[in-house]
Amino acid sequence: MTSRFTLDLTGQVAIVTGASSGLGAASAKALAGAGARVCVNYHRDEHGAHAVREEIERAGGKAIVVGVNVAHEDRVEHLFAKTKEAFGDVHILVANAGLQKDGASDTLSLKDWNTVLDVNLTGQFLCCREAIREFLARGRKPEVSRALGKIICMSSVHQVIPWGGHVNYATSKGGIMLMMKTLAQEYAGRGIRINAICPGAIKTPINHDAWGTPDAETKLKKLIPYGRVGDPEDIANAVVWLASDLSDYVTGASLFVDGGMTLYPGFEDNG
Ligand code: BGC
Repeated sequence: MTSRFTLDLTGQVAIVTGASSGLGAASAKALAGAGARVCVNYHRDEHGAHAVREEIERAGGKAIVVGVNVAHEDRVEHLFAKTKEAFGDVHILVANAGLQKDGASDTLSLKDWNTVLDVNLTGQFLCCREAIREFLARGRKPEVSRALGKIICMSSVHQVIPWGGHVNYATSKGGIMLMMKTLAQEYAGRGIRINAICPGAIKTPINHDAWGTPDAETKLKKLIPYGRVGDPEDIANAVVWLASDLSDYVTGASLFVDGGMTLYPGFEDNG
């Protein structure tokens, strides 16, 4: 007997924010590969977003591109309206858009603090709120998915690992953790599953300096028990699983996809 739980996302529509590069781009392609129609959101890199769309289309999938800054309430409404106009009901949100503006805490400007919190935390909240509204506005369709809707918040190992020189970023990720859990608690009874993925060091543009040279990569790998820097696909695979009915009993979880970065590797032979 075959299980009716499947990774197949045919008939579902996904919005991926910050999907013009990195984890968002890989997630958009993977969701499309699993059969979902995908809205590829970007803020600055229109060219990158269209490249993702074209790759999805070349592989036989369906995608649209919508450019909005998720930190603005009316733009987030626009993002959902455009997706609904193109594809109909939305079933999956990957709240991924995020950035770093690093600096020592004693000299960090209020502007850099606010920019990171506005996009990484407030932007995720605005997208989650819009997705929840959208899910609640329609009934459950068990033939499409067991859940009413699924939200995946892109967090980080830095939701638990303090990170000197990145206080704005670490604060935003710590905030995502309790935002995600609170929303998961609040809406589980209505069939909405909300989880977070906590990537470790993954090869994307955001941290290119940390892996872009052999020396940097060797230093970075000291923090990773599994001995390799992650690929965006490592995260995209987890996104597809959390979006699918295979994870139907999972909500409010933080899934660490980090090669063991959160296992305190410094303690392996010390302490
Ligand atoms: C950050 C990366 C960093 C990784 C591990 C991620 O959340 O965006 O810059 O390399 O955490 O420290």
